[in-house]
Amino acid sequence: MRLSSRLKAIVDMVPPGMKVADIGTDHGYIPVYLSLNGISDYIVATDIKSGSLNKAINEIKKNKLSTKIITRLGSGLKVLNLNEVDIAIIAGMGGILIADILEKDKNIASTIKRFILQPMKASDYLRYYLNKNGYRIIDEDLILENEKYYEIIVAEHGHEIINDNIFYEIGKKLIEKRHPLVKDYIKYKIGKMRRIIDEVSKSHNNISLIENILYKIKKYEVLLNESEMPDNCRND
Ligand SMILES: C[S@@+](CC[C@H](N)C(=O)[O-])C[C@H]1O[C@@H](n2cnc3c(N)ncnc32)[C@H](O)[C@@H]1O
Repeated sequence: MRLSSRLKAIVDMVPPGMKVADIGTDHGYIPVYLSLNGISDYIVATDIKSGSLNKAINEIKKNKLSTKIITRLGSGLKVLNLNEVDIAIIAGMGGILIADILEKDKNIASTIKRFILQPMKASDYLRYYLNKNGYRIIDEDLILENEKYYEIIVAEHGHEIINDNIFYEIGKKLIEKRHPLVKDYIKYKIGKMRRIIDEVSKSHNNISLIENILYKIKKYEVLLNESEMPDNCRND
């Protein structure tokens, strides 16, 4: 089975031998790949919508894995038992919804060791939520597929000091590990902010908004310079 680069990067974050839940599985490609490749022999595939879960059930049947993958219909972590899985994957949803899923069932979340999260938007909100709610980010990955960037955040329970708000927007781990895409990603984000300034200055004269964005661009540029420096000169 061949996965998209985004899904492949997600399954690559799963260490072998762990019990896994894929929350919001939809097509079911993640659980099927984990099972076919012997990465996990205890997998729960869940979705809130029966139509989506049925797609996963069909994919599981097609691959003759119906006795190996458990499927459950329901919202978020609610469908899991306490201590049932080691890892929860929550991918392909907005960062606000992912944070909401973690928040709603804290008792179950507290028994899951690791979370592989792939927000489609609002990754800054999700990183902030994690930081303020007893999680630390242990790894990140960045994928460029069909001209779109995808962020993958791996978190565990714990604490982390974030000394600059910019690291809610650009994952600190991406800078630390000198991720090959991080510089292009920062440039892409700067480009987006410059386009916003162009639009805002055309329609109304919102000086304070423009000043805020220019301030943010400066911070991104500092990060960009730092990520180009040799290790012994960096300040992260
Ligand atoms: C865009 S799909 C992502 C599928 C897959 N995880 C991926 O990354 O390609 C989002 C899925 O999340 C499901 N979903 C949305 N809210 C959910 C919730 N609270 N609990 C479980 N599943 C949810 C949707 O029904 C949908 O099937």
